[in-house]
Amino acid sequence: MSDHQKRIAGEAAAERVKAGMVVGLGTGSTAAWFVKALAARGLAGLRCVPTSEATADLARELGLTLSSLEDSPRIDLTVDGADEIGPGLALIKGGGAALLREKLVWEASERCIVIADAAKVVETLGAFPLPIEVVAFGHKTTGNRIADVLLDHDIQMPARVRTADRGLVRTDGGNLIYDAACKAIHEPARLADDLKLITGVVEHGLFLDLADEAIVGTDAGVEVIGP
Ligand code: 5RP
Repeated sequence: MSDHQKRIAGEAAAERVKAGMVVGLGTGSTAAWFVKALAARGLAGLRCVPTSEATADLARELGLTLSSLEDSPRIDLTVDGADEIGPGLALIKGGGAALLREKLVWEASERCIVIADAAKVVETLGAFPLPIEVVAFGHKTTGNRIADVLLDHDIQMPARVRTADRGLVRTDGGNLIYDAACKAIHEPARLADDLKLITGVVEHGLFLDLADEAIVGTDAGVEVIGP
Protein backbone atom coordinates (compact mmCIF):
# COMPACT_ATOMS: atom_id res chain seq x y z
CA MET A 1 0.00 0.00 0.00
CA SER A 2 2.82 2.43 0.83
CA ASP A 3 4.29 1.75 -2.61
CA HIS A 4 1.03 2.95 -4.16
CA GLN A 5 1.19 6.04 -1.94
CA LYS A 6 4.77 6.71 -2.98
CA ARG A 7 3.84 6.26 -6.63
CA ILE A 8 0.94 8.72 -6.63
CA ALA A 9 3.05 11.29 -4.76
CA GLY A 10 5.80 10.92 -7.37
CA GLU A 11 3.35 11.17 -10.23
CA ALA A 12 1.70 14.29 -8.79
CA ALA A 13 5.10 15.96 -8.39
CA ALA A 14 6.02 15.15 -11.99
CA GLU A 15 3.00 17.19 -13.08
CA ARG A 16 4.65 20.27 -11.53
CA VAL A 17 7.59 20.11 -13.93
CA LYS A 18 7.53 22.30 -17.05
CA ALA A 19 9.44 21.94 -20.31
CA GLY A 20 12.93 23.47 -20.27
CA MET A 21 13.38 23.26 -16.50
CA VAL A 22 16.50 22.22 -14.66
CA VAL A 23 15.22 19.54 -12.28
CA GLY A 24 16.90 18.05 -9.22
CA LEU A 25 16.24 14.33 -8.95
CA GLY A 26 16.11 12.90 -5.43
CA THR A 27 17.14 9.46 -4.26
CA GLY A 28 15.16 6.52 -2.91
CA SER A 29 12.09 4.51 -3.81
CA THR A 30 9.67 7.46 -3.80
CA ALA A 31 12.00 9.64 -5.85
CA ALA A 32 12.31 6.75 -8.31
CA TRP A 33 8.55 6.95 -8.94
CA PHE A 34 8.98 10.64 -9.66
CA VAL A 35 11.84 9.97 -12.08
CA LYS A 36 9.76 7.35 -13.91
CA ALA A 37 6.73 9.66 -14.14
CA LEU A 38 8.92 12.55 -15.28
CA ALA A 39 10.50 10.47 -18.04
CA ALA A 40 7.05 9.29 -19.15
CA ARG A 41 5.95 12.90 -19.66
CA GLY A 42 8.59 13.38 -22.39
CA LEU A 43 8.96 17.11 -21.73
CA ALA A 44 11.29 19.00 -24.07
CA GLY A 45 14.53 20.64 -22.92
CA LEU A 46 14.76 19.20 -19.41
CA ARG A 47 18.12 19.00 -17.73
CA CYS A 48 18.21 16.72 -14.70
CA VAL A 49 20.69 16.89 -11.82
CA PRO A 50 20.74 13.57 -9.95
CA THR A 51 21.52 13.33 -6.23
CA SER A 52 23.13 9.87 -6.39
CA GLU A 53 24.74 7.41 -8.76
CA ALA A 54 21.66 5.16 -8.39
CA THR A 55 19.32 7.93 -9.50
CA ALA A 56 21.69 8.88 -12.33
CA ASP A 57 21.62 5.27 -13.57
CA LEU A 58 17.82 5.16 -13.48
CA ALA A 59 17.41 8.54 -15.19
CA ARG A 60 19.92 7.59 -17.89
CA GLU A 61 18.13 4.30 -18.52
CA LEU A 62 14.86 6.17 -18.94
CA GLY A 63 16.36 8.60 -21.46
CA LEU A 64 16.39 11.75 -19.31
CA THR A 65 19.13 14.28 -20.07
CA LEU A 66 21.55 14.45 -17.18
CA SER A 67 23.45 17.47 -15.98
CA SER A 68 25.55 18.25 -12.92
CA LEU A 69 25.62 20.95 -10.30
CA GLU A 70 28.80 22.25 -11.96
CA ASP A 71 27.08 22.68 -15.35
CA SER A 72 23.66 23.65 -13.95
CA PRO A 73 24.31 25.48 -10.69
CA ARG A 74 20.77 26.95 -10.57
CA ILE A 75 18.04 24.35 -10.32
CA ASP A 76 14.41 25.30 -10.91
CA LEU A 77 12.76 22.48 -9.00
CA THR A 78 13.99 19.55 -6.94
CA VAL A 79 11.74 16.64 -6.00
CA ASP A 80 12.96 14.17 -3.40
CA GLY A 81 11.73 11.75 -0.76
CA ALA A 82 12.19 11.89 3.00
CA ASP A 83 12.38 9.57 5.97
CA GLU A 84 10.29 11.84 8.19
CA ILE A 85 8.27 15.00 7.57
CA GLY A 86 7.75 16.99 10.74
CA PRO A 87 6.00 20.26 11.60
CA GLY A 88 6.97 23.18 9.38
CA LEU A 89 8.22 20.70 6.77
CA ALA A 90 11.32 19.99 8.84
CA LEU A 91 12.70 16.72 7.49
CA ILE A 92 14.95 13.80 8.26
CA LYS A 93 16.65 12.52 5.13
CA GLY A 94 19.56 10.24 4.36
CA GLY A 95 18.07 6.78 4.82
CA GLY A 96 19.48 6.05 1.38
CA ALA A 97 22.89 7.53 2.32
CA ALA A 98 22.60 10.31 -0.29
CA LEU A 99 22.06 13.21 2.12
CA LEU A 100 25.15 15.24 1.21
CA ARG A 101 24.48 15.40 -2.53
CA GLU A 102 20.78 15.80 -1.79
CA LYS A 103 21.39 18.81 0.43
CA LEU A 104 23.76 20.39 -2.10
CA VAL A 105 21.11 20.02 -4.82
CA TRP A 106 18.25 21.21 -2.55
CA GLU A 107 20.20 24.30 -1.53
CA ALA A 108 20.83 25.14 -5.19
CA SER A 109 17.11 24.89 -5.98
CA GLU A 110 14.58 27.64 -6.45
CA ARG A 111 11.86 25.30 -5.19
CA CYS A 112 11.89 21.95 -3.39
CA ILE A 113 9.04 19.48 -3.17
CA VAL A 114 9.24 16.56 -0.79
CA ILE A 115 7.24 13.47 -1.73
CA ALA A 116 6.36 10.63 0.62
CA ASP A 117 3.88 8.02 1.74
CA ALA A 118 1.59 8.95 4.63
CA ALA A 119 3.61 7.05 7.26
CA LYS A 120 6.46 9.56 6.90
CA VAL A 121 4.44 12.41 8.40
CA VAL A 122 5.24 12.73 12.13
CA GLU A 123 4.53 15.14 14.97
CA THR A 124 8.08 15.05 16.32
CA LEU A 125 11.19 14.21 14.32
CA GLY A 126 13.52 11.51 15.57
CA ALA A 127 11.85 8.09 15.58
CA PHE A 128 13.75 7.44 12.34
CA PRO A 129 17.47 7.33 13.22
CA LEU A 130 19.15 10.55 12.12
CA PRO A 131 21.82 9.86 9.46
CA ILE A 132 25.07 11.77 9.90
CA GLU A 133 27.73 11.61 7.17
CA VAL A 134 31.32 11.58 8.43
CA VAL A 135 34.73 11.27 6.79
CA ALA A 136 36.23 7.80 7.18
CA PHE A 137 39.52 9.06 8.64
CA GLY A 138 39.24 8.94 12.43
CA HIS A 139 35.55 8.15 12.26
CA LYS A 140 35.44 6.48 15.69
CA THR A 141 36.71 9.70 17.26
CA THR A 142 34.10 11.62 15.31
CA GLY A 143 31.49 9.11 16.49
CA ASN A 144 32.50 9.81 20.11
CA ARG A 145 32.12 13.55 19.53
CA ILE A 146 28.69 12.94 18.01
CA ALA A 147 27.75 10.95 21.14
CA ASP A 148 28.82 13.92 23.32
CA VAL A 149 26.62 16.28 21.31
CA LEU A 150 23.71 13.86 21.50
CA LEU A 151 24.10 13.62 25.30
CA ASP A 152 23.97 17.39 25.45
CA HIS A 153 20.58 17.05 23.74
CA ASP A 154 19.46 14.40 26.29
CA ILE A 155 19.86 11.66 23.70
CA GLN A 156 21.41 8.74 25.56
CA MET A 157 22.06 6.37 22.64
CA PRO A 158 25.38 6.81 20.83
CA ALA A 159 25.18 6.92 17.03
CA ARG A 160 26.13 3.68 15.26
CA VAL A 161 28.15 3.43 12.09
CA ARG A 162 25.99 2.03 9.28
CA THR A 163 26.94 -1.40 8.00
CA ALA A 164 25.61 -3.71 5.31
CA ASP A 165 26.47 -7.24 4.18
CA ARG A 166 29.82 -6.18 2.79
CA GLY A 167 30.91 -4.12 5.80
CA LEU A 168 30.76 -0.37 6.31
CA VAL A 169 28.32 1.48 4.07
CA ARG A 170 30.08 4.06 1.90
CA THR A 171 28.31 7.05 0.41
CA ASP A 172 28.80 8.02 -3.24
CA GLY A 173 31.47 10.42 -1.96
CA GLY A 174 33.29 7.63 -0.07
CA ASN A 175 32.23 8.77 3.40
CA LEU A 176 30.56 6.80 6.21
CA ILE A 177 27.15 7.18 7.81
CA TYR A 178 26.45 7.23 11.54
CA ASP A 179 22.80 6.71 12.49
CA ALA A 180 21.64 8.41 15.68
CA ALA A 181 18.62 6.79 17.34
CA CYS A 182 17.36 10.03 18.81
CA LYS A 183 13.77 8.87 19.45
CA ALA A 184 12.66 12.51 19.69
CA ILE A 185 14.45 15.64 18.50
CA HIS A 186 13.04 18.55 20.44
CA GLU A 187 15.37 21.26 19.14
CA PRO A 188 16.20 20.32 15.54
CA ALA A 189 17.86 23.65 14.68
CA ARG A 190 20.17 23.55 17.72
CA LEU A 191 21.05 19.91 17.05
CA ALA A 192 21.74 20.71 13.39
CA ASP A 193 24.09 23.54 14.38
CA ASP A 194 25.89 21.48 17.03
CA LEU A 195 26.48 18.53 14.69
CA LYS A 196 27.90 20.78 11.98
CA LEU A 197 30.52 22.08 14.41
CA ILE A 198 32.12 18.63 14.83
CA THR A 199 35.28 18.21 12.78
CA GLY A 200 34.81 15.13 10.62
CA VAL A 201 31.05 15.55 10.25
CA VAL A 202 30.41 16.34 6.61
CA GLU A 203 26.62 16.76 6.80
CA HIS A 204 23.56 15.56 8.69
CA GLY A 205 20.13 14.53 7.59
CA LEU A 206 18.17 17.37 9.17
CA PHE A 207 16.71 19.37 6.28
CA LEU A 208 15.29 22.49 7.92
CA ASP A 209 13.70 25.42 6.08
CA LEU A 210 14.41 23.79 2.73
CA ALA A 211 11.15 22.17 1.62
CA ASP A 212 8.56 24.47 0.06
CA GLU A 213 5.81 21.90 -0.16
CA ALA A 214 5.10 18.25 0.61
CA ILE A 215 3.06 15.96 -1.60
CA VAL A 216 1.97 13.01 0.51
CA GLY A 217 0.35 9.93 -0.93
CA THR A 218 -2.55 8.54 1.11
CA ASP A 219 -5.08 5.79 0.45
CA ALA A 220 -7.56 8.52 -0.48
CA GLY A 221 -5.24 10.30 -2.94
CA VAL A 222 -2.52 12.93 -2.57
CA GLU A 223 -2.46 15.59 0.11
CA VAL A 224 -0.44 18.77 -0.29
CA ILE A 225 1.14 20.31 2.80
CA GLY A 226 2.44 23.87 2.63
CA PRO A 227 5.32 25.21 4.73
C1 5RP B 1 17.97 9.10 0.55
C2 5RP B 1 16.79 9.73 1.16
C3 5RP B 1 15.45 9.20 0.76
O1 5RP B 1 14.75 10.23 0.16
C4 5RP B 1 14.73 8.72 1.99
O2 5RP B 1 15.52 7.70 2.59
C5 5RP B 1 13.35 8.14 1.64
O3 5RP B 1 13.49 6.98 0.91
P1 5RP B 1 12.23 6.19 0.34
O4 5RP B 1 11.55 7.09 -0.64
O5 5RP B 1 12.83 4.96 -0.30
O6 5RP B 1 11.33 5.84 1.50
O7 5RP B 1 16.87 10.65 1.94
O8 5RP B 1 19.17 9.56 1.12
